[in-house]
Amino acid sequence: MTAAVATIRAHTVLTPPSLVPEILLYQATELTAIWQATEAWLAVHNVSDPPFWAFAWPGGQALARYMLDHPARVAGRLVLDFAAGSGIAGLAAARAGAAWVEANDIDPLALAAVGLNAEANELAVAALAGDIVGSPCRWDLILCGDVCYEGPMTRRILPWLKAMAGGAEVWIADPGRAYLPADGLESFAAYDVPTSLQLEDRTTRRAVLYRLLPDAT
Ligand SMILES: C[S@@+](CC[C@H](N)C(=O)[O-])C[C@H]1O[C@@H](n2cnc3c(N)ncnc32)[C@H](O)[C@@H]1O
Repeated sequence: MTAAVATIRAHTVLTPPSLVPEILLYQATELTAIWQATEAWLAVHNVSDPPFWAFAWPGGQALARYMLDHPARVAGRLVLDFAAGSGIAGLAAARAGAAWVEANDIDPLALAAVGLNAEANELAVAALAGDIVGSPCRWDLILCGDVCYEGPMTRRILPWLKAMAGGAEVWIADPGRAYLPADGLESFAAYDVPTSLQLEDRTTRRAVLYRLLPDAT
């Protein structure tokens, strides 16, 4: 067992997220413990990402719910779960009948979690490591759950995602984060996602699914 897998197994429980009972994820039950454990792992491996992968964020849950309820939108397509965290959106795409699913995250622990979660659900999701912002499009559908929570990150990924939207469908699922762009988005579904007060400042967040419109130029 790798150190990453051991860290994940030791500090999480295999449970379904609130809105998606069909999928099991290795999730943290207590924020402080997972944060401390991850910091210890980070210190050894010299990286600095917080344990986003240990939670199913409202955006990822809304994407998963939509795809499981509308499998025809996903079936047979080449799918990228971008900034995948636990991989919840990619797992739902695979369950909904996507032809091929890749999950990308810059956090290596997230990719290890995606592998464990895929195995637990008997689904095929390929882990795509590293920073892929700027790479050419080879997908039909790009899923982005909860990616507008930080200014520098959003400013960096959005121009690339808009360029991708010229050749693929790009879905952003957002629960009201500060850096969601004010225009260039077309909403097509929304869900009230039960959330934990440990992570959010309320017990429910409304996550809206948007199609990102390509640049007009
Ligand atoms: C709030 S979490 C959302 C995770 C998942 N999509 C969900 O909805 O549950 C944001 C994720 O973005 C990842 N991330 C941040 N910058 C990234 C980048 N440049 N490329 C890929 N992933 C990135 C983080 O590591 C983290 O896992």
